[in-house]
Amino acid sequence: MAQRVRKAVLPVAGLGTRFLPATKVIPKEMIPVIDKPVVQYAIEEARAAGIEEFIFVSAMGKEAIAYQFQPQAQLEHLLSEKGKTAELKLIRDINLPAGKLHTVIQGDPLGLGHAVWCAKEIVGNEPFAVMLPDDMVLSDVPCLKQLIDAHAKVGGHVVAVEDVPRDQTNRYGVLDVTSEEGRLAKAKGLIEKPAPEKAPSTLAIIGRYILDPIVFEELDKQTRGAGNEIQLTDALSRTIGRVPFHGYRFEGKRYDCGTRVGFVEANVAFGLAHPEMGPRLRPLLEKLLKN
Ligand code: G1P
Repeated sequence: MAQRVRKAVLPVAGLGTRFLPATKVIPKEMIPVIDKPVVQYAIEEARAAGIEEFIFVSAMGKEAIAYQFQPQAQLEHLLSEKGKTAELKLIRDINLPAGKLHTVIQGDPLGLGHAVWCAKEIVGNEPFAVMLPDDMVLSDVPCLKQLIDAHAKVGGHVVAVEDVPRDQTNRYGVLDVTSEEGRLAKAKGLIEKPAPEKAPSTLAIIGRYILDPIVFEELDKQTRGAGNEIQLTDALSRTIGRVPFHGYRFEGKRYDCGTRVGFVEANVAFGLAHPEMGPRLRPLLEKLLKN
């Protein structure tokens, strides 16, 4: 039985240049999908998966992200005085317990591997989750919970994967698969952003990982890879053989909020799935499409 996963690392240091001018002042992760900032979906998914401690790898000017999950005494006081109990509950429910939320600053944008490495001291020597908030997943069982359950059985590294069209392999970490059993794909290697003709498969990593702390031994070397960045994919690849490595074909649908069109698609999908908004939105969308 693998050690329990208690901590999640959320890299949120990116400047969000693809989303300018929206991100000139507001961190990209704070832009809402329907009624909540993108990053809140990731935190809620993590909590639903039993994660207890949260580490934002952030950058200067993005303090709002951590504030979203801390008590706002003045606002809470005001809402309680006005008897706005529903709103009060909404903002209180997302507060993380004191001491369970950490922010480390990634001074230089040296890549995803570097971002994860920045959390090394807080993670320590235990398995941990990495969540890229840009990837949003609609599923019955929270995606991270699916990974944690799989990890409890197989240990090592377990990453969420899905098949992508071959002409898109150059946007992802791609697995070199040796065998598959149910939703688990055992890999003997992985490559960051391979050209379609060089990709060993079309099984791509999406932004949910359960990692063995052995990855820090490789990240410590700060080796540069694709795009001259310190790649998480490369560090993971170099640990294969020392710990098991599996891709997990998660149940659910992923939306890529890292692109503008993907972001709009996520809004539509999460809007339709929203208990209150969905039934009102559907006829409006149908009408729009007809015209
Ligand atoms: C990162 C990882 C990549 C992974 C992807 C998932 O790439 O480097 O391996 O497949 O996230 O979203 P990025 O999207 O930051 O370029």
